[in-house]
Amino acid sequence: AQPPKPTETLLSFAAVNKNLNDTITVPAGYTATVVFATGDAMFAGVSAYKNDGTDTGFDKRAGDCHDGMEYFGLSATGTPDASNSDRALLGMNFEYITPQFLHAKGPSALPRPAAETDIEVDAHGVAIVEFRKTASKFACVTDSPFNRRITGLTEIEISGPARGNALLVTKFSPSATKTRGTLNNCGTGKTPWGTLLTGEENWTGYFFRAMGDNAKRSANANVALARYGRSASATAAAASRYGWETAGSADKYARWNTSVTGVSADGSDDYRHEINGQGYITEIDPYNATSVIKKRSALGRFAHEAAAFSKPVAGKPLAVYMGDDAQNEYVYKFVTSANWAAADATPADRIAAGDKYLDSGKLFVAKFNADGTGTWVELSMANPTVAGYTGYAFANDGDVLMHARLAADAVGATKMDRPEWCGTHPVTGEVYFTMTNNSNRRVAPTGSQTQVNAANPRAYSDIKDASTTQQGNVNGHIVRVKETGGESGAASFSWDVYLFGAESTASPGFVNLSGLTADQDFSSPDGLVFSQSTGICWIQTDDGAFTDATNCMMLAALPGTVGDGAVQTLNYGTVSVTTPVGKKPTDATLKRFLVGPNNNEITGMCESPDGKVMFVNVQHPGDDTPVSALADPSKFTSHWPGNSGYGAGGATARPRSATVMITKNDGGRIGS
Ligand code: FEO
Ligand code: CA
Ligand code: CA
Ligand code: CA
Repeated sequence: AQPPKPTETLLSFAAVNKNLNDTITVPAGYTATVVFATGDAMFAGVSAYKNDGTDTGFDKRAGDCHDGMEYFGLSATGTPDASNSDRALLGMNFEYITPQFLHAKGPSALPRPAAETDIEVDAHGVAIVEFRKTASKFACVTDSPFNRRITGLTEIEISGPARGNALLVTKFSPSATKTRGTLNNCGTGKTPWGTLLTGEENWTGYFFRAMGDNAKRSANANVALARYGRSASATAAAASRYGWETAGSADKYARWNTSVTGVSADGSDDYRHEINGQGYITEIDPYNATSVIKKRSALGRFAHEAAAFSKPVAGKPLAVYMGDDAQNEYVYKFVTSANWAAADATPADRIAAGDKYLDSGKLFVAKFNADGTGTWVELSMANPTVAGYTGYAFANDGDVLMHARLAADAVGATKMDRPEWCGTHPVTGEVYFTMTNNSNRRVAPTGSQTQVNAANPRAYSDIKDASTTQQGNVNGHIVRVKETGGESGAASFSWDVYLFGAESTASPGFVNLSGLTADQDFSSPDGLVFSQSTGICWIQTDDGAFTDATNCMMLAALPGTVGDGAVQTLNYGTVSVTTPVGKKPTDATLKRFLVGPNNNEITGMCESPDGKVMFVNVQHPGDDTPVSALADPSKFTSHWPGNSGYGAGGATARPRSATVMITKNDGGRIGS
C-alpha cells in the first residue's frame, strides 16, 4: 500500500528565471543529478565512455538524443511491481544523433564508412535499463538481466492489420511479417498492462530514393511516397539524412535504399517497401529482455509522438490518443475492439495483452469545429469517403493504416500546428495535446501555408519590437479535448485551447493570449506528461523562437477543465477567428520549474510512483556546434554535463544528452 500523501501545497516553489546558463537550473530546495548520458555502459564489461569520438559498441551503451521515457517498477526480488519507488526499469528513447560528437573528426563524407554507419545506427533506438536507489540516488545497474538495447537493426514483428500486406514485402521479409529497427523514437506511452510504447517520428529522412525511381512505380505508389516526404523525379533523388545506404553492399546498408532495384513484381528481391516498415507505435515488454517486439499497425503510420491512454474502465474500450508531428498534420484516436478487463493490469503474458488490445480496433482522426465541438472520423474502408477517395486508391485496411495521412486528407480532418505529445489528466480524463508551433500559419496563406482555424487561431507570434512582426504561430499552444459523456469510444467531443505559448512582453491582444508573466512565459510546448502522483501537468519545450532569451525549459501547471474560460475572437481585419480558450493561468497554476543547458531541448519525463523522484531527459545540448569547431573545445556551444562533473572531459567535454534525476531536498514530492 502507498503511504498517505503529504498535504503539501503544489507549485509552492519559487519560479526559476529564464536563463542562458550551460547547466540545469531547478528551484531552491531541489537537486538535479545526472544519472545516464550518451555512451554510458549498459552492460558489465563495457568500457567507460571516453567521449572523444573513438567509442564504439553503442548497442551496449546508452544511445544518443534521449527522448521519451517511462518508469516500470520492480519489486525487491525483481518481479513487476508498479508501486515500487526504489527500483525500476526505465524504458527510454534515443531519437537521433549528433554526428559531430560521435566521431573524432565528425562524420566522413559520402560514401559513409561502414564503421561510422554502424555506430550511428546503433546509437538510435530504445533502451530498457534497470535503475536502483541506494543512499537516495538512483544508479544504472549494468549487470541487470533486464537491460536491453534495441537499435536501428533489431528484428521487429509487424502486427495488426498491415501484417502480411503487399506493401511490406521486402527481401528481408518476403512474407511481409517483420522488419528491422525502430527509428527516430520520440514520445512514449505506457500501456495499462505494463509495456512501453515508443513513437517512430521523423523516419522518412533515413531512406534514400533514387532519381528516376518514380518511373518504376505506379502513380498511386508515387502519391503515397510523396505524402510521406520521399518524392523522386527524373532529375532528383530523395537524399537520406545520414547516407547509410552508401556504406557498402551488405544487406544491412542496402536496406536504406528504398528504391526499385530488383526485377521481382512484388518487391521480394529489393527494399522498395523498406520505408513502409517504419512510422508505427512499437510495443516493447520491458520485463522480458528476450520478448518479441511488435509494431502495432492498427494505430496508424505517421510521424508518431506520444501515445496516451484513456483512463481504463472495466467493461469499456480503451482509447489511445496520438499526434502526427509535422506542419498541418492531424490528431488521432485509436479505440480498442476489446473492452478493458481489470485482470489485464497484471497479465501473465504482456505481449499477448498487447495483441488483444492493440491489434484490433478503429482509428479515428479529429475534426475541430469553431463552436468548441468536434468529431472523430473513422479511417477505414468501411468509411465511403476513404474507400472512394480520388486522391489515392486504397487497396485495403492495411493500406489505409499505412497511409493514415492520406485517409485523413480524404475526410477533411483539421490541419493542426504540429501535434507533439499528448497526455490524459488523471482526474478529469481530458486529453491535452501540445501544438508545438507552425511558422506557416497565416491569415492570408499562399503556397504551403495554411489559414488560421478555430483550433489553430494565431497567425502572429513574436513581436520583437514595433518594427518586427513575425508571422506564423511560432510559439505554439495546447489544445485539450473532453470526450462526450466521458466515453473513450465517443464519436464527438468538446475542446478548448488551454494555453498559448508566448513571450510575456508580446502583444496581449494577438500574441500573449494567456496573459503569461515572466515566471510563466515559454515557447513551443512539446513534451507533456501528467504526474500520476500530484496531477501536475509538466510541460517541456523544444523552442527556436525564444532561445535568444532562454534555454529550453519545463513548467509545472495545474490546469482546470475544458470550457472554464471565455470565448476569444481574434479579428485580423479580413478574417476573424473565434476560439474557446481556457481560464488564464495564475501564479498558483503555472510556474517555470527547470531550465536546461545551452542548445538543448527538454523532453521525456517519468517519476517514481510516490512522486518524490523525477527523471527528465536533456536532449542534444550544444548540437549547433559545427564540425569545424571540433578541434577547439572553446568553440563548443555546450560542455554539459562534463562541466558539472559528469563523465570524462570536464569543463571542455563534448556535450552529451542525458537523463537527470530530480529530488526535493526535504524529501517531498516534486512540484510542491
Ligand atoms: Fe521528436 Fe516532434 O519531436
Ligand atoms: Ca518531441
Ligand atoms: Ca530539437
Ligand atoms: Ca519538437
